[in-house]
Amino acid sequence: MSESATPSELVILRELLANETGFVSGSALAAKLGVSRVAIWQHMEKLRTRGFGFQAVRARGYRLNRRPATLSAPFIEALLANNGTGCRVLLLDEVDSTNDEAARQLAAGELAPFVVIARSQTRGRGRFGRQWQSAKVGNLYASFAFRPQLPPGRMQTFTLWMGVVICDLVASLCTSAPGLKWPNDLLFDNKKAGGMLTEARMDSDTIRDLIFGIGLNVSTAGEALPEEIAARATCLAAHATESIDINRFTAALITRVNSAYQAFLDGTFRDTFADLWNRFDLLRGRQIAVLQGETRVAGIASGVDDEGALLLRDEAGRLQRFRAGEVSIDKSTL
Ligand code: BTN
Repeated sequence: MSESATPSELVILRELLANETGFVSGSALAAKLGVSRVAIWQHMEKLRTRGFGFQAVRARGYRLNRRPATLSAPFIEALLANNGTGCRVLLLDEVDSTNDEAARQLAAGELAPFVVIARSQTRGRGRFGRQWQSAKVGNLYASFAFRPQLPPGRMQTFTLWMGVVICDLVASLCTSAPGLKWPNDLLFDNKKAGGMLTEARMDSDTIRDLIFGIGLNVSTAGEALPEEIAARATCLAAHATESIDINRFTAALITRVNSAYQAFLDGTFRDTFADLWNRFDLLRGRQIAVLQGETRVAGIASGVDDEGALLLRDEAGRLQRFRAGEVSIDKSTL
């Protein structure tokens, strides 16, 4: 079952978050909600059971002094207040895959946009049908659902655009910038910190349902993963300037992804895509190999074309385009 706050709890949390260094009087809250001060106190008690703590001082009111340390729907919703995204948040404790849950919700007629977030996944999926390890603590598994009515040819650019927007958000919290390994990996120092999985359902020749799934290792990597993956994985916390509050990070991610989606729909993303791509493209100028089934093509990565296909200058000097494939980087060029 999805967890969320009642409208009254949200009003209380928003007021307290807007005055984090001061106090909010119980009578002001009561007046705002048109309820008694006892009713406010009851809401506070309920919020305490959900990981919030309040300091109550006579004649001054309440101050927020503890916030949930793990993913919290009321906290995320309160942080998203008035951000204009209109994106609803469905937080689940455990699900098979947030992408699958988003697909089920869309098929059932749920109004988009919304985001499905889970604390853990039992069948998290990555590209090529691979498993996405989805440990219970400290990481983020989120799937955004949209109904865009776009031509299918624009899907690849969509994932790249989302990837650089998310790199930009992550970079703002970290000492070193992450890089994007075409088409869907977020890496620090050649170790994976996140991956994206975009899936779509078509109606004749337009995309009817679009699901953008992102898995980010926020604060756990090595210890929570099987040994062979741990050696190639890292997490945002290992590169962050200060400790990352998973709820604030999630709210920022939801805001960024939704505004990036709007910019993608109206075409204004093109104004910034090239700059961000140049900033975060991990492959450009590197010796790489693209594997497509049994075929392996080696060469120098040379950016992307307008449709988001990877460009590679092969050993004979020809420019080749790849719309799909798995990229490996020649270690000597790292
Ligand atoms: C990859 O690197 O191959 C993509 C990984 C994508 C994982 C995320 S976690 C949230 C969403 N739900 C899934 O089952 N997969 C994506």
